[in-house]
Amino acid sequence: MRIAVIPGDGIGKEVTAEAVKVLHAVAKKFGRTFELEHLPWSADHYVQTGETLPANGYDLLRQFDAILIGALGDPRVPDNRHAREILLGTRFELDLYVNYRPVKLLAERLCPLKDRGPSDVKFVVFRENTEGVYVSIGGRFKPNTDDEVAIQEEINTYKGVHRIIRHAFEYAQKHGLTRVCMADKSNAMTQGHALWQRVFKEVAAQYPGITPTHYYIDALVMYMVLDPGQFEVIVTNNLFGDIITDLGATFQGGLGMAASGNIHPGRTSMFEPVHGSAPKFAGKNIANPIGAIASAAMLLETLGATEEAAAIEAAVLKSVEDNQVTSDIGGTLGTREAGDYIAEILKA
Ligand code: NAD
Ligand code: IPM
Ligand code: MN
Repeated sequence: MRIAVIPGDGIGKEVTAEAVKVLHAVAKKFGRTFELEHLPWSADHYVQTGETLPANGYDLLRQFDAILIGALGDPRVPDNRHAREILLGTRFELDLYVNYRPVKLLAERLCPLKDRGPSDVKFVVFRENTEGVYVSIGGRFKPNTDDEVAIQEEINTYKGVHRIIRHAFEYAQKHGLTRVCMADKSNAMTQGHALWQRVFKEVAAQYPGITPTHYYIDALVMYMVLDPGQFEVIVTNNLFGDIITDLGATFQGGLGMAASGNIHPGRTSMFEPVHGSAPKFAGKNIANPIGAIASAAMLLETLGATEEAAAIEAAVLKSVEDNQVTSDIGGTLGTREAGDYIAEILKA
């Protein structure tokens, strides 16, 4: 298994080091070899060289079985150019149309919602990952004047909407789930989101065993907080999916807990924690590595190494049960020590 590792910026570097540590531990346990190749693409690299990623960067990535990435974002790059080219660029160029973000609570004490436990917080979000407002189509006319006009288009294509909705129903069917909820803003965005409405009905009709439900995105966030147990699978667009998965992460104990996959089924896919580079936390050994470690488990699972993935998940769960975790979720360990604890469980 050849895995490209892009630690990136800030705490991305620190949590990725722990995910790599855990990958080595699980490889040893199962007698496997993972060939890891570190790529330096980051704000540091950009500031020093002027290069975000090399001209053949996306082709290079396609040669790996999977990509593990930390986070990108650095105050020295205010226009976020390197993150757009490395992170969003890879999502677009490798056509990673499924952003898979499970929301899974490991222990009741971690949940900020009153009287909610692991049986209530157990759903997955499928975020469309290749279009929407993220395509950067638009422009600014008369910039920096009082007459400025700024246009940022939202792209919704039949192909893009259809494949993410179909993926959500396929996932539900494969996992014996009974409900798929689509969230949009079709009451206001009467063109692009009318397409989501049409395609959702069309796809749902092909899955008679699954109940399709719908909320406008504003109501959805309310119901996520009031009654998360009603959700099994949520499917939504790129921007709304970004926003609701930070909320979902807080149900799990915070941004440090949440994992994600940028997936094109059957092709090189990219795995990353949901959180960003948290510059204020960088270099302090305080970031929670669980989101990154769980993303590495998701990577293995996607590549068919299901036992290895399950072993990592079990070790993460044990570290939470033993409270051998970082301070954001009530422990006293540093990033490295929390990673060590999980790696040691795998070695035992
Ligand atoms: P952020 O996710 O980096 O941090 C927000 C807050 O969440 C932090 O201050 C911290 O309180 C908490 N947090 C995040 N990760 C944590 C962890 N592992 N352990 C404990 N607490 C954690 O979001 P932000 O501050 O909005 O963004 C910072 C930079 O990261 C920006 O440049 C942004 O664009 C970038 N970003 C990158 C990605 C990515 O690469 N996938 C994702 C989100 C944000
Ligand atoms: C995420 C991040 C990115 C996004 C940013 C860094 C562009 O927030 O992966 O959730 O909005 O997709
Ligand atoms: Mn985000």
